[in-house]
Amino acid sequence: MKATAIAPSNVAFIKYWGRKNEVLRLPTNGSISMNLSSLLTTTTVEFSSNLQQDAVEINGQLFAPDSAEARRVTSHLERVRQQAGLRYSARVVSENNFPASTGLSSSASGFAALTVAAAAAAGLNLSEKELSILARQGSGSACRSIPDGFVEWLDGDTDESSFSMSLHPHTHWQLVDVVAVVSREKKEVGSSQGQLAAASSPFFSVRLSRLLEKLSRARALLKQRNFTDLGELIEAEAVEMHAIMLTSTPSLMYWLPATVKIMRLIRKWRSEGLEVYFSVNTGQDVHLICRPDDVETLTGRLRDLPEVSNLIINTPAPGTRLAEQHLF
Ligand code: PMV
Repeated sequence: MKATAIAPSNVAFIKYWGRKNEVLRLPTNGSISMNLSSLLTTTTVEFSSNLQQDAVEINGQLFAPDSAEARRVTSHLERVRQQAGLRYSARVVSENNFPASTGLSSSASGFAALTVAAAAAAGLNLSEKELSILARQGSGSACRSIPDGFVEWLDGDTDESSFSMSLHPHTHWQLVDVVAVVSREKKEVGSSQGQLAAASSPFFSVRLSRLLEKLSRARALLKQRNFTDLGELIEAEAVEMHAIMLTSTPSLMYWLPATVKIMRLIRKWRSEGLEVYFSVNTGQDVHLICRPDDVETLTGRLRDLPEVSNLIINTPAPGTRLAEQHLF
């Protein structure tokens, strides 16, 4: 009744921002992402008759049962217990190898790892599609961390039709995502909560009217490995999502001065011949998408910036997998 899973975080090329069903966590639109090799969560889950209640430890911190973090984990365990017809409480120990709440999508890797570990520990034998459906209910973007490599999440209209699948394995394309960590400051509004305001932006309907076309363009460019056109699309999409955030009520601003500085520098460097594109999620850290040959030049320049505290170099990664070694 014990299992461990390792899950990658992912960066969305076409973003998920807004939900059409809160209870089922159905997104307003589909999204496309790449799993990240160096942003990983490892989680061990053990169900046991000796436990009175769930015990949740994340990055060495034991959370009180009534804390928001523990309650979100317990709600997710409840879904697994229900499917498995299990009543035991669980001990959950989880570790990220990167900072949480700074825009690196730890909820994606976190809920993907929790889903796969808890399902295995409960003795459920679920397909990849079923695991992604379950992960989606914990945190939307987590469903994209289940399959291999480059992934599409179909928005769907029901619980069963909103799931993720691999478009291409991680070996399809040697893209690199250099993450510039600019601060460990934690964001004030998490993405789950922030998304509640998405539809209040006057530009949300405009965004949605163009999304199907955007998704098919991203799919085609990914298939062709067209770096320049996909890069332009990734960057424009990130900026568009932030335009929705900024113009919603309440208005959300996730960027710090260092975030803006890097975004501007990337455009300058690009105009001078270094082909790099940026993406930003709910936080200040910046994802920089480039080709393998440009990693050294890019990281060299970023290391010279006093605002950059750390660089994390990612390549496309497989999805969530079980591991032999437990955390306890
Ligand atoms: O799954 P959540 O609630 O962490 O939302 C993720 C939102 C973004 O990272 C901003 C976009 C995305 O598609 O990953």
